[in-house]
Amino acid sequence: MKEFLVQTFADHRNVIVFLHVISAVIWVGGMIAIRFATHQSLAQIEDPKLRLERAAHTLKRLFSIVWPFVIILILTAVIMAVGLGFRAAAMDASGNVINEYAMGIYNMVHVKEAIWLIMSLNLAAMMFRRRKAEIALREGNIAVAKGMLEMIAKYMVPVNIVLGICAIFIGVTLRNAY
Ligand code: HEM
Repeated sequence: MKEFLVQTFADHRNVIVFLHVISAVIWVGGMIAIRFATHQSLAQIEDPKLRLERAAHTLKRLFSIVWPFVIILILTAVIMAVGLGFRAAAMDASGNVINEYAMGIYNMVHVKEAIWLIMSLNLAAMMFRRRKAEIALREGNIAVAKGMLEMIAKYMVPVNIVLGICAIFIGVTLRNAY
């Protein structure tokens, strides 16, 4: 498996890095556009039910565009992480550290993995809340729908934007580290 990933990365390096970067652009960029452009625009709709319905629909569109790229991001990440040999540069076969600098870089890869995991779980939770809001709106329960969507806009999307920007910065650092 390891040889396969190393060979795949060696054969298709440009495409793999491109897919990784474009996935990050769509995921993080999509959230920024929704939070700082669409959200402000939707806030001007006076009818609360219509406003919440539009918000739920906009998020549905965003999430369905974004989730395939979340998968592409982790697949390309695994190929890059193995293909670039971070572990082999940092540790020997028994797990002893052989190079402190390489170990620091390898730890950054782990930080990115953790960020991806948190962002994905947060996305899954947002999809769940959005669905609940849609059901509540269909039943005419505006207060419940508002609570579900408010949390997404106020905290959950901003958290993922910040984490995404951190992951991009670490990606640039990794690229320039060897
Ligand atoms: C499983 C988690 C991840 C791993 C193991 C990982 C690994 C890497 C590696 C090794 C690079 C350097 C590529 C190179 O040297 O050519 C990189 C670059 C990059 N990563 Fe990730 N990544 C992960 C998650 C993410 C996430 C969640 C984002 C953003 C949402 C992201 C955005 C980027 C970007 C934009 C670059 C390009 C930086 C540049 O070209 O200067 N990565 N990543």
